[in-house]
Amino acid sequence: MCVCVCVCVLQVQSVLQPFCLSVHQLRTISDLLMKDLIKGLGKHSHHKAAVKMLPTFVRSMPDGTEHGDFLALDLGGTNFRVLHVRVLEEEKVVDILGSQTCSISQDIMLGTGEQLFDHIAACLADFISSQNLKGQTLPLGFTFSFSCEQKKIDESILLRWTKGFNCSGVEGRDIVQLLKEAVQRRGDFTIGFVAMVNDTVGTMMSCGYRDQSCEIGLIIGTGTNACYMEEMRNVKRVEGEDGRMCINTEWGGFGDDGTLENIITDINRTIDQTSIKPGVHIFEKMISGMYLGELVRLLLVKLTEQKLLFKGQRSTTLLTAGTFPTKFISEIEDGKGAAMVTAVAQRLALQSHLVLQPFCLSVHQLRTISDLLMKDLIKGLGKHSHHKAAVKMLPTFVRSTPDGTEHGDFLALDLGGTNFRVLHVRVLEEEKVVDILGSQTCSISQDIMLGTGEQLFDHIAACLADFISSQNLKEQTLPLGFTFSFPCEQKKIDESILIRWTKGFNCSGVEGRDIVQLLKEAVQRRGDFTIGSVAMVNDTVGTMMSCGYRDQSCEIGLIIGTGTNACYMEEMRNVKRVEGEDGRMCINTEWGGFGDDGTLENIITDIDRTIDQTSIKPGVHIFEKMISGMYLGELVRLLLVKLTEQKLLFKGQRSTTLLTAGTFPTKFISEIEEPLSGLENAKRILSSLNVPYDFVDARIVRLVCDTVSSRSARLCAAALATVANRIRVNRGLKHLKTTVGVDGTVYKKHPNFSDELQAMVRLLAPDCDVTFILSQDGSGKGAAMVTAVAQRLALQSHLLEDSDGDSEEED
Ligand code: BG6
Ligand code: GLC
Ligand code: GLC
Repeated sequence: MCVCVCVCVLQVQSVLQPFCLSVHQLRTISDLLMKDLIKGLGKHSHHKAAVKMLPTFVRSMPDGTEHGDFLALDLGGTNFRVLHVRVLEEEKVVDILGSQTCSISQDIMLGTGEQLFDHIAACLADFISSQNLKGQTLPLGFTFSFSCEQKKIDESILLRWTKGFNCSGVEGRDIVQLLKEAVQRRGDFTIGFVAMVNDTVGTMMSCGYRDQSCEIGLIIGTGTNACYMEEMRNVKRVEGEDGRMCINTEWGGFGDDGTLENIITDINRTIDQTSIKPGVHIFEKMISGMYLGELVRLLLVKLTEQKLLFKGQRSTTLLTAGTFPTKFISEIEDGKGAAMVTAVAQRLALQSHLVLQPFCLSVHQLRTISDLLMKDLIKGLGKHSHHKAAVKMLPTFVRSTPDGTEHGDFLALDLGGTNFRVLHVRVLEEEKVVDILGSQTCSISQDIMLGTGEQLFDHIAACLADFISSQNLKEQTLPLGFTFSFPCEQKKIDESILIRWTKGFNCSGVEGRDIVQLLKEAVQRRGDFTIGSVAMVNDTVGTMMSCGYRDQSCEIGLIIGTGTNACYMEEMRNVKRVEGEDGRMCINTEWGGFGDDGTLENIITDIDRTIDQTSIKPGVHIFEKMISGMYLGELVRLLLVKLTEQKLLFKGQRSTTLLTAGTFPTKFISEIEEPLSGLENAKRILSSLNVPYDFVDARIVRLVCDTVSSRSARLCAAALATVANRIRVNRGLKHLKTTVGVDGTVYKKHPNFSDELQAMVRLLAPDCDVTFILSQDGSGKGAAMVTAVAQRLALQSHLLEDSDGDSEEED
């Protein structure tokens, strides 16, 4: 029964799927439209252009000194209206002194032009006498919401009817002329100067009276369209190069030349072909109120035909065009607060959606999360608030990013990610590159991760000794960069106190101790090699620094791997716990700890709680446990168990393998979400987990993976957007251009994580232009960079001291 429900839902989804446009598709559409805007403006390309880009001869926005009484006509939207309007200069307001709505019957909409204009003139006459305006000859503004080629403000040739109008003998004629003739035919009133405007232009102008920066007018009503102020030099069909002119894009016509073929559905084609003007205003027919209800009706009919709705029983009413007006959509969505897609799914009682729902974070929720994190960043930086802060905001004593003059040979250690590595690194000044001369991965057993500190550091020293002898470096004493990817309180670059273990490490006797000291002691215990000065770096810092060598605007380091974290360049004046006001210092946010004080209570699910409570460190790094590679697989596994318990998967049959913690590693998620091979991978993985699955199960498992990884990407995006905004605000900038160096298996290996993350950052931080560069071997190289920068700075301050000494001697 349940599987049957799922099958239905999947079938419903496959009917609705073509209506779901991805961010990628939207970008393509935007690119195509941009091309069409330019084509429409061109002198020679215009005649073939689907998007007409019509000059309106409106050259300036209201400046607030306009005033007087006017008549206004408004034709082309839901209602036809006549108005008496007063523009008041002092108050900067437009008053409506009177208005009247006249109905326009279907007969008139499809009759002759003479009938239409006679009807308009009759309404006008009626209104004028009801308002006692008969003796006056008022100027008239005519909002005529159809595509018109204007020669001047009072001459407007109708190119073509849209939106259900099709009066004969009007296309190709001047609307002003037709109106005047109709008024003359009556002879019982007069009108003054007539100005023709499209509804978009009217909208922009009326808003522009209140807010002078209003320079786009947008209509999403019966039809859809926009106008905007274009530079005259680009309006090739009108003479003159200076200033701006309002252009009525008529974007409703986008796609009329076939451009939108890839996104058009069979239902869209039916809508177009059964419309009064087939082939005209394709884009509008996918968007506007005149068509939305009909789109829904046709979808409902299709779902009924496939027996996915209404027990497959047809209703003559539903089969009749126009019986599902667009306002029904608003009514249904208002009622339920959910999109129609969800409503359909709810009707089918898909309980697995209910189970997954808490993992789907809305943009609104992400904005709230970002606001909360911003508060926590500030709290972590504060002198007196720091000790209570969940987000630790640790000073790193890295004050400058590489300047490209660093060089030399270094050893590097890299502990805390998927692998523990030892590296021999060369920084080459001339080529601006960091070369890895040799590297070795050493395994760290679970025993060591949970053993004593001494065992851990002896193991590290042993790996180092091994490597040094294999590289013939025994006689040298190289400086060492130690990428140690855990939260440490640094006092200086070579003193770093572990605050607490995270990510499955829990060696005794290390928290609260200086890592440099513990490493040096272990090296001394062996006595068979020496190391030079040690610089401690977090992996985020290493990543930022190694990318910073290539791109000097890189000032954020981001890790989404076993754990998650970011560092960024903060203004010294805000780093209250370190003396000095000038310049910047890199801050290791340790955002993994966000939520440890309960801040994220509202978005945490029961599954998150289980993950936390069964972890080695309950209550610690709550945010990280929702995002990073160490936990994603386990989140999916627990969800699969829950869905099985609710008999929504695997016919409700439990498998001991699936019930065992750790049997669903995070890499399974990437494999299952792979666009082409994903479903096949899912089947292979489900077989290995000994669960009795069918085709529907495989799809639901994929949906679960997608839900969990997508939440991770969105949470990360919210956090990164917060950091980017922080930098922007710090520098008093309206717009920030910045680069993020990124590393970590989740970011690198998951098929669409990086796309989703980047798209969400753009959405959540629209004022920040963030470039992502992938760090290759970032932490190892970065540790060397930090060491090199520290050496450069030490050398510079030496030189400075020497030259101070010199000048004293000269004195
Ligand atoms: C690696 C670094 O490139 O990225 C590690 O060398 C870092 O130090 C890691 O922790 C993060 O990714 P993961 O997925 O290995 O934890
Ligand atoms: C149609 C018309 C256009 C109008 C829009 C919104 O697309 O062609 O002129 O602006 O509808 O009403
Ligand atoms: C954990 C560590 C942090 C590290 C991150 C990514 O959150 O606490 O220091 O940067 O993992 O590896």
